[in-house]
Amino acid sequence: MTRVALLGATGSIGEQALGVIAAHPALEICALASGSQPLDGLAAAHGARHVQVGGDLTGLLEASEPDLVLNAVVGFAGVGATLWALERGVTLALANKESLVAAGELAVAARERGGGMLLPVDSEHSAVFQCLEGRAPATVESVVLTASGGPFRNRSLAELESVSVEEALEHPTWSMGPKITIDSATLANKGLELIEAHFLFDLPYHRIEVVVHPSSVVHALVRFRDGAALAHLGYPDMRVPISFALTYPDRASTPVPALDFSARLTLEFEPPDLGRFPLLRLAREAGERGGTYPCAFNAANEVAVDAFLDGRIGFLDVADLVEHALSQVDGAPAHDLGELVAADAAARRAAQGRLALV
Ligand SMILES: NC(=O)c1ccc[n+]([C@@H]2O[C@H](COP(=O)([O-])OP(=O)(O)OC[C@H]3O[C@@H](n4cnc5c(N)ncnc54)[C@H](OP(=O)(O)O)[C@@H]3O)[C@@H](O)[C@H]2O)c1
Repeated sequence: MTRVALLGATGSIGEQALGVIAAHPALEICALASGSQPLDGLAAAHGARHVQVGGDLTGLLEASEPDLVLNAVVGFAGVGATLWALERGVTLALANKESLVAAGELAVAARERGGGMLLPVDSEHSAVFQCLEGRAPATVESVVLTASGGPFRNRSLAELESVSVEEALEHPTWSMGPKITIDSATLANKGLELIEAHFLFDLPYHRIEVVVHPSSVVHALVRFRDGAALAHLGYPDMRVPISFALTYPDRASTPVPALDFSARLTLEFEPPDLGRFPLLRLAREAGERGGTYPCAFNAANEVAVDAFLDGRIGFLDVADLVEHALSQVDGAPAHDLGELVAADAAARRAAQGRLALV
């Protein structure tokens, strides 16, 4: 039996993970965590003896002794759990990309010390992981992350100024929690994924490409030095990468339908427009600058997305807040979690200062 600690159990990934776990006899839930929603019903239904609502998740992990941590918390709140699992060599199935973006260097060092497995749950990274499996690093030219382009792919800059929260929450291909749905509309999500890929696969930024692929059937590609490219295809359904990570390396079956070639299946690709979607450019720059710039990118983006969801700022202000915050912070590397939390707080303050002026 694999004892799973499911963090973020009440969210979009959390709910789908509960279904995957319930269908698999070799998986059992030892711990559940949420941010504010009560967990009594879920704990009783899934036999979880350890539960926690909000607060520091590492106490819950210590007490429940999981074999695998599925971190499906949203935002910087997931950092402590990611570092806890990596440090101890406990298998980490990572949906919470923000933790790897914010704490990338600390996470890589913790993973080296802990020696455990880090299995990406993000569909693009799960796809890259699978395309890379068993390949010699020297044969790999680059990885290509696909982006749906979000609901505003064809909107002009002038139109983007007045898009509503409701429109931004209408993702064309994926059904997800509100924060990542807004991140997908601004392309900040692809920016976070670019930084996540850098830390997961130990690749420099110039060897990580992003391409817009509206139908979200190709999740990622890996280009090799001989000119070949391997792609990972499937309908956009997070149960596949969740199940892959939870049952690795067994690849358990899922109820997700196989690709149907009798229905029209078009694979279109186009380059992202960094003029209309500057958050992807800002993320790449933050990643290349290193230190705590990625942490600042993430923190300011979290502040801006909250403000957009609350109707306090417009869609284009999200990038403005992030750009401003990045210009205010020093980006100095964090040597421990305390310094990282301070860097995160400084970027949040900078974004909030700008927010007051919008
Ligand atoms: N949804 C997707 O399809 C998808 C795909 C790829 C990657 N991801 C990533 O997976 C993560 C979760 O996304 P989601 O869409 O599932 O988000 P979501 O639906 O908003 O769910 C977030 C979960 O995190 C919990 N949470 C929030 N703050 C917390 C805290 N301080 N301590 C413990 N738990 C906390 C929430 O609890 P409450 O319900 O109590 O607030 C909820 O269970 C994000 O990092 C996202 O980028 C998601």
